[in-house]
Amino acid sequence: MTMDKNYQLNDGSSTPAIGLGTIDLKGAKGVNSIVTAIEENGYRLIDTSTNYNNEGAVGEAIRRTIVPREELIINSKLPGAAHDYDQAIQLIQESLYRLGIDYFDKYLIHWPLPKQGKYVEAWQALIDAQKFGLIKTIGVSNFLTEHLEKIIDETGVTPATNQIERHPYFNNKELVEDNKRLGIMPEAWSPFGREINDVLENETIRKIAEKHDKATAQIIVRWNVQNDVLVIPRSSSPLHQKQNLDVFDFELTDEELNAIDDLDKGEPGRVEGQHPNEYEEFV
Ligand SMILES: NC(=O)c1ccc[n+]([C@@H]2O[C@H](COP(=O)([O-])OP(=O)(O)OC[C@H]3O[C@@H](n4cnc5c(N)ncnc54)[C@H](OP(=O)(O)O)[C@@H]3O)[C@@H](O)[C@H]2O)c1
Repeated sequence: MTMDKNYQLNDGSSTPAIGLGTIDLKGAKGVNSIVTAIEENGYRLIDTSTNYNNEGAVGEAIRRTIVPREELIINSKLPGAAHDYDQAIQLIQESLYRLGIDYFDKYLIHWPLPKQGKYVEAWQALIDAQKFGLIKTIGVSNFLTEHLEKIIDETGVTPATNQIERHPYFNNKELVEDNKRLGIMPEAWSPFGREINDVLENETIRKIAEKHDKATAQIIVRWNVQNDVLVIPRSSSPLHQKQNLDVFDFELTDEELNAIDDLDKGEPGRVEGQHPNEYEEFV
C-alpha cells in the first residue's frame, strides 16, 4: 500500500491528496501551527484566502520553514469584492506581497456571487494572471455546475480544481461527479463540519473507526481519498495534523464507504447554509 497519494490536475501539475486548511490559524500561534504542519508532519499543500485574514501568517511560515519554497503548494482565493478584472489582477498582486512570495501555486475564485454576475470577468483575470506568471494553477471554489459550464463556454479554459463544501452530512455527490465529468478535481472544504456539526462524533463513523483502530477524523479523510476528492482538513494540533495525513495504511470497504455516503442530509446538512447561488461575501 502506498503511503501517500497525489493527483494529476488537468493542467499537468500534481497535487497532494491532502492539504492543510488554515481558517483561524493566524498570528504567532498560527505561524507555529503551520510551520509544525510543514516540518514535523509533512504537509506541502497550504490553503489560505484573503478572507481568512492570515495570508501574513502563511507568508511568515513560508519564510521560517526550512522546507524550500518550491516544495510547497500555496493556494489562496480571490474575494468577492475584487471580481472586476483590474481589481482582481491588483488583488492577486497585493496578496502575493502580503505573503512575500512571487507566485501562487494555485489560486481560486472564492465564491461565484452569481447575483453580482462578474465571475466570468474574474475568471478571465485568473487566466491572464496565469499568463503573467503570477499563478501556476487556476481554479474556482463553490462553483455549481452551471457556473462551471458558463466560464468554460465563455473562455474555453477549464478550472483545474473546484473547492466545495463536503463532509458526511453534506457530501455534495452530484457536484463531485459533475466536476469529475468536466475534468475538474473536486476539493472538500470543512471535511469535519468545522466546529459546527457533530460529524466527528457520529455513531456510524465511530463504529467504522473502531473497526480500523483509527480516529473518526481519519475515516473521513480516507473516505475522501478513496473517492478521489482532494481534502484540506484544518488543525492547530500537531497530533491531529499527523493523524489527518496518516490514512494510507488501511482501506474502507465499499459497504463502509456507502454507509458514510448514507449520512448525507442534503441541503439542510450544510454547515452554515451557504448555498453558492445565495451566499455573498464582499470582503
Ligand atoms: N472555499 C471555501 O469557501 C471554504 C470554506 C470553508 C473552509 N475552507 C477551507 O477548508 C479548511 C477546512 O475547513 P474548516 O476549517 O472549516 O474546518 P474542518 O477542517 O472541517 O474542521 C476543523 C476542526 O476540526 C478539528 N480537528 C482537526 N483534525 C482533527 C482530528 N484529527 N481529531 C479531532 N478533531 C480534529 C480542529 O480542531 P484542532 O485544531 O484542535 O485539531 C478544528 O476544530 C479551512 O480551514 C479552509 O482552508 C474553504
